[in-house]
Amino acid sequence: MAAVADHVLECDAVVFQRDLNVLPYEIGHTLADHPLFQLDVLVELAQRVAARKNPHMSGGDVYFNEGAIEAGTMPNYDRPEEERARAAELVRKIELAEAWIILKHVEREDGYREVMERAVVDALRLAGPAGEQLFKKIKWFEAIVFITSPNRVTEYHIDRECSWIFQIRGDKAIHLFDRADKDVVPEEELERFYTVDNRASEYKPQFEDRALVYDMTPGTGVHIPVNTPHWLKNGNNVSITLNVNFQFHDAQIANLYKSNYYLRKLGLRPSLPGAHSTIDRMKAWAFTGALTVKRKLRPGDGVVPPEAKDQKRRIAEMLATAR
Ligand SMILES: [Fe+2]
Repeated sequence: MAAVADHVLECDAVVFQRDLNVLPYEIGHTLADHPLFQLDVLVELAQRVAARKNPHMSGGDVYFNEGAIEAGTMPNYDRPEEERARAAELVRKIELAEAWIILKHVEREDGYREVMERAVVDALRLAGPAGEQLFKKIKWFEAIVFITSPNRVTEYHIDRECSWIFQIRGDKAIHLFDRADKDVVPEEELERFYTVDNRASEYKPQFEDRALVYDMTPGTGVHIPVNTPHWLKNGNNVSITLNVNFQFHDAQIANLYKSNYYLRKLGLRPSLPGAHSTIDRMKAWAFTGALTVKRKLRPGDGVVPPEAKDQKRRIAEMLATAR
């Protein structure tokens, strides 16, 4: 197995702490020549992830789409079980496939787990005093590999997770928008996103000139805070990108958006999350209570998987020895 460098993530600690999960910023990393991210090795990884009998996601841990798209396109990435095995073939012919392939939860595989855990420890150390509190709020950490064909676009979207992306092969431009800009991210869109529609965020070409564009090259990357809209376009080359993300524990923010979604449906104009901390807490409690009742009916829902607990234990041990 390839050794993991003594660090993966590089960033100025002042910038890292100032803008953590608020604004995007550039990072550097040590993975550009890492053997686990070479195409022939990724073909084998795609085979293993596609063949999982107990995938993390109910729809499987492999998603892909073929053909050219634009920033505002909403392609279908869902793959029935019988199609998932094609992912490895697409990776093999990625140069010509006009494809976008996503391999989720690669930290379940030997080698990739060590890379992700090293990146997580680096992030938590760079976070300084806030790192300890941040660690407690995390439900699990995930690593995703994206493999994309030359000139392929990844459509505009937002994510629930707080991410760092590491460009490993090829050039790729990422267009990021300020989540605080309510022309770009109307509150109603976030409420629909967290409540009923994973694809509620809508690309608005009239605001494209407000995007912050980073031209990523191997060895560079960016931080993407929760709810920060983004879309990407490859250069004229195959791109390999790693995403390491933090998923928060209590979904408190999600519950605020859900609560506001229903209040707005009643004709009310709810306060924005963060505007009134007491009201926020009441809304979140109301929703957490509703979820607890639901969980009694469906015991599997929302339970943290045992591997996530093992992962947090290992990372806590690494953090303790790193001090
Ligand atoms: Fe994303």
